[in-house]
Amino acid sequence: MRKEEIILKSDEEIEIMRRSSQIVAEILLILKEKVEPGITTLDLERTAEEETRKRKAKPAFKGYRGYPYCLCTSVNDQVVHGMPSRRALKDGDIVSIDFGVSYEGFYGDSAITVPVGGVTADSMRLIKVTAESLNRAIEAARVGNRLMDISSAVQKCVEAEGFSVVREFVGHGIGKELHEPPQVPNFGEPGKGMRLKAGMVLAIEPMINMGGSGVRILDDGWTAVTVDGSLSAHFEHTVAVTEKGPHVLSRV
Ligand code: MF3
Ligand code: CO
Repeated sequence: MRKEEIILKSDEEIEIMRRSSQIVAEILLILKEKVEPGITTLDLERTAEEETRKRKAKPAFKGYRGYPYCLCTSVNDQVVHGMPSRRALKDGDIVSIDFGVSYEGFYGDSAITVPVGGVTADSMRLIKVTAESLNRAIEAARVGNRLMDISSAVQKCVEAEGFSVVREFVGHGIGKELHEPPQVPNFGEPGKGMRLKAGMVLAIEPMINMGGSGVRILDDGWTAVTVDGSLSAHFEHTVAVTEKGPHVLSRV
């Protein structure tokens, strides 16, 4: 089989992916409830590791291309791939938590952005609009639609609010591998790209900046930050395209 070929999943495989994605969802919920001023992102990492072990799942990111942690924790102007550290979260911060596991041979992947204590109305709006853009994208993940219908749904929602879409990172197919084809950009023209088929499972993950769309990578080789220092938010769900419509496998 060619590497670019999309691997369609059977109903049975989708059920397994629902279980792996539900483990991710449960743990993200536990982490969300732990977020408060004073907690460090390394505290969140330890909780994630322990909860993953309890459920007999395997963290998806640890060891992936040499990434050293279970979680990506991206604070404020960090876009994605922020690394857990002894940095304590402060009142007014926003933190994106990205987490994946493999379980019974299949991956699940999801991300949320959480306000720390009380945040500004603008920060809250960024979080809400990013979450809403993911919902719009999921609605477009239907048999017969095209890939860019998903992408353009994100872009339209976000740009209408004056925010910008990160272009350097994209969503992805997911299954027995964390990253499978196709790439799922968060921008594009409706009606373009491949036709969506039942059995496709996609990790859709808008990364949205309050200011400009530019990002750069810090010297640690991982952490992506906004070029202009503006805040960034990230939400992700693992979504199965089925004859009955989109199934959000990672929704609690
Ligand atoms: N959710 C991200 C992704 O799908 C997380 C990957 S972090 C890495 O790309 F460390 F595993 F690369
Ligand atoms: Co992902």
